[in-house]
Amino acid sequence: MTDYTVEFVGTGETITVSDKDTILSRCIEEGIAQEYSCRVGMCLACSAEIVEGEVVQPAARGLTEREREEYALTCMARPASDLRLDRGEYPPSIESEGRGDPAAADD
Ligand code: FES
Repeated sequence: MTDYTVEFVGTGETITVSDKDTILSRCIEEGIAQEYSCRVGMCLACSAEIVEGEVVQPAARGLTEREREEYALTCMARPASDLRLDRGEYPPSIESEGRGDPAAADD
């Protein structure tokens, strides 16, 4: 198990998240006001822009392939490096009718 530092830009909140934990679960434990709803990678409410670093999120079904490189679904994402995340930025497909359909959202 490896621990990583996750910093939220804008608020400066910083938590430690292991590569076995989701970012959202640690936010809840630490009392950080991260938005969420479904907790299964579909609604995108828990999205955050990846400013720096990498995550592993194979079950982030609500994001397009391109969005997976730029956004983390914190309910699904586990850190693969130290991270800086912006909770104020959401992926384009959150507004798309094709949400949940990566092919449609890429158009
Ligand atoms: S809470 Fe719905 S995608 Fe994370």
